[in-house]
Amino acid sequence: MSTRIGLVGAGFIAGRHVESLTALDGVTVAGVADPQADRAQRLAERAGARAYATWEDLLGGETLDALYVCVPPHQHGAVEDAAVDAGLPLFVEKPLATDLPTAERLATRIEAAGLLTAVGYHWRYLDTLEQARALLADAPPRLLLGAWLDKAPNVPWWARQDQSGGQTVEQATHLLDVGRVLAGEVTGGFATGGRSPDGPGDVLDVCTASLRFASGAVGTFSNSCVAPRGYRIGVQVVAPGLGLDLTEHDLRITDAAGERTVPRQRDPIAAEDAAFVAAVRGEGDDVRAPYAEALRTHRLAVAVARAAADGGTVQL
Ligand SMILES: NC(=O)c1ccc[n+]([C@@H]2O[C@H](COP(=O)([O-])OP(=O)(O)OC[C@H]3O[C@@H](n4cnc5c(N)ncnc54)[C@H](O)[C@@H]3O)[C@@H](O)[C@H]2O)c1
Repeated sequence: MSTRIGLVGAGFIAGRHVESLTALDGVTVAGVADPQADRAQRLAERAGARAYATWEDLLGGETLDALYVCVPPHQHGAVEDAAVDAGLPLFVEKPLATDLPTAERLATRIEAAGLLTAVGYHWRYLDTLEQARALLADAPPRLLLGAWLDKAPNVPWWARQDQSGGQTVEQATHLLDVGRVLAGEVTGGFATGGRSPDGPGDVLDVCTASLRFASGAVGTFSNSCVAPRGYRIGVQVVAPGLGLDLTEHDLRITDAAGERTVPRQRDPIAAEDAAFVAAVRGEGDDVRAPYAEALRTHRLAVAVARAAADGGTVQL
């Protein structure tokens, strides 16, 4: 029997998920909901699905096995509540919300319901991240340098603090997540940031944080959205006798043997979708960022963003 999936939101990332979901055997994208009717219609056509104006209509109109939530950060809450009420497995795009209370509240409900969830921290499915972890098993990280230096994405909600949560929460969260995967939990630190009067929007356009990990490692994570394009997006790691430079595309390894660059072998978004669908079918157990795990990264991102905006100290 086919696994029937509904999508809420028909923007950029929903399109990426449709691409990988429709390539999987035994998956039907049954419905797509978006208040922008042309988008819902276009993506539904691509997926062979029905278009809906709202997620309420989608949930009422289709029998589903799982729901993808691909909405802007400020639209999280009610749709996840409805999925919990319906006992519907949930794939939620990062960030979990613009704020922490919404995500904490949903996490409590999801936990109580025992709902299967996955969150779109797709860097966790980079085979190159797995390779980095293997190399670091014998030489634990001492220093991490994360940077997301980019331009502001051209979507209407992104540069609005109340709609996106700002760049650290919205984008650099991927790097903080990688930092947690490679070096473990952060215990505290400091952050500072700034906002240009000329924008974009009302978000901090520069932010930098110095963080301590429970392991004794330290790291700096910086982001800016005033670069002309994405020219540096990744995490560098220094460990005894080892240097690593991970981007979404490849891993540069520096060790006693010299330097080599390993390109990634698989599309991490396709891999995360395949893992989620397998879990929904009861055929797999490789969801790497369930909601509760993603919440730990979101907590860190919110703490860094808050410290950068008004205080300096990262409080976890
Ligand atoms: N994992 C990744 O690397 C990755 C990449 C891009 C985007 N994202 C995340 O995905 C989310 C969406 O980003 P995007 O780039 O697709 O944005 P987008 O603006 O292209 O698409 C969002 C869509 O959601 C729709 N929408 C808004 N409120 C809705 C609601 N209540 N119900 C249904 N649809 C609604 C909008 O009309 C829009 O079409 C963001 O949180 C973003 O951070 C993740």
